[in-house]
Amino acid sequence: MGGVGAQAACRGLSASGRPGRAGRVQTARMPHLHPRAAAQESVFARMSRLAAQRGAVNLGQGFPSAAPPEFLLGAARGALGRFDQYAPPAGLPALRDALGADLGVDGADVTVTCGATEALHLLTLALAGPGDEVLMLEPVFDVYLPQVALAGARGVTVPMTLDPARGWQFDLGALAAAVTPRTRALLLNSPFNPTGTVFTDAELAGIVALARQHDLWIVSDEVYDELYFGPRPTSLRSLAPERTFTVGSAGKRLEATGWRVGWIVAPPGQTPGVLGLRQVTSFSAPAPLQAAVAAALPAARESGFYAGLRETYGARMTRLAAGLRALGATVFEPRGTYFLTALHPTWTAEGLIDSGVAVIPGEAFYAQHAAPAGLTRWAFCKSDADLDVALARLSQADQTVRL
Ligand SMILES: Cc1ncc(COP(=O)(O)O)c(C=O)c1O
Repeated sequence: MGGVGAQAACRGLSASGRPGRAGRVQTARMPHLHPRAAAQESVFARMSRLAAQRGAVNLGQGFPSAAPPEFLLGAARGALGRFDQYAPPAGLPALRDALGADLGVDGADVTVTCGATEALHLLTLALAGPGDEVLMLEPVFDVYLPQVALAGARGVTVPMTLDPARGWQFDLGALAAAVTPRTRALLLNSPFNPTGTVFTDAELAGIVALARQHDLWIVSDEVYDELYFGPRPTSLRSLAPERTFTVGSAGKRLEATGWRVGWIVAPPGQTPGVLGLRQVTSFSAPAPLQAAVAAALPAARESGFYAGLRETYGARMTRLAAGLRALGATVFEPRGTYFLTALHPTWTAEGLIDSGVAVIPGEAFYAQHAAPAGLTRWAFCKSDADLDVALARLSQADQTVRL
């Protein structure tokens, strides 16, 4: 690069001699990115980056510190060299069949995606557009609102309430009151990140009645379907198969979040609509990893892998919760997911990372309502050693009155 433009840009001027915005290279002929490209680094990515840079224990982003199970890794090794070209957009037939068998649905209703994130993106595109509203609860998983906005629709959130004595509370009446003639879909998550809520059958029945009354689609994000600490969560699909799209994630189930294999189970007859869009987003998910997940799903069931995860994570949740309570936090133990939420009057994510522990600030899950003061989210899908080091650091910081 050289010439007037380069020199001017170095001085903070554009090639036309107009001042450029501080720190940006600007030339007369440069087009502008669309405003939607002004997206910031997500707080999840930021906290992981800061944790790596500063040697903090990462209890922020929800990925396990353990390696995936050998039955999954071995299947992937065997698939490389055999499944190396495009998979069909709907997914490898073996994986659609395996998911059908695992979830008790017809494999023809399954679409394999690049993680649950792409599944959610496809569904918002398929279900809503300009003038439409998609209703969801707040705190809200960070991709929901931007994805609805990308579809040209409006996301509307209804707050859960946080009662220090009773924990997170869901109000069906508030959800019903937020339905308008423009509402097209309810986007729900159970087990719920970050609250850990697992909706009861009575709550799910109320949600289904609401959806039927107003003829709404339901998108049920069930990526933590195997991570629960009480009764097994009921899938909304079983209550309203005609209108529920279920979203799942092999990354969450099989401890391989980097593999980017997820899925949609569509109501009977609705898969072609999803598939049309799926061909122009990423076309298909990585073929060898799909083959590995297809082999691993029955192996996970037969070996009791999910029950083992629940046992391990249940113990870690108890360990972390006890440690945080000892430091004065009010802890809300989840019924599902691998996150717990806590309230502490003086803790902030910035302060905690100074003490050597990365967590997610409560505000990361709020866009339309105020986050409860002092709310943080803690991932316990980490090793016992990580949890112990984190608690020891917090305890030490507490004694030196830095927290
Ligand atoms: C509620 C929820 N939905 C979807 C996702 C995305 O899952 P995936 O990694 O399969 O894209 C996550 C990831 O943390 C999540 O917590």
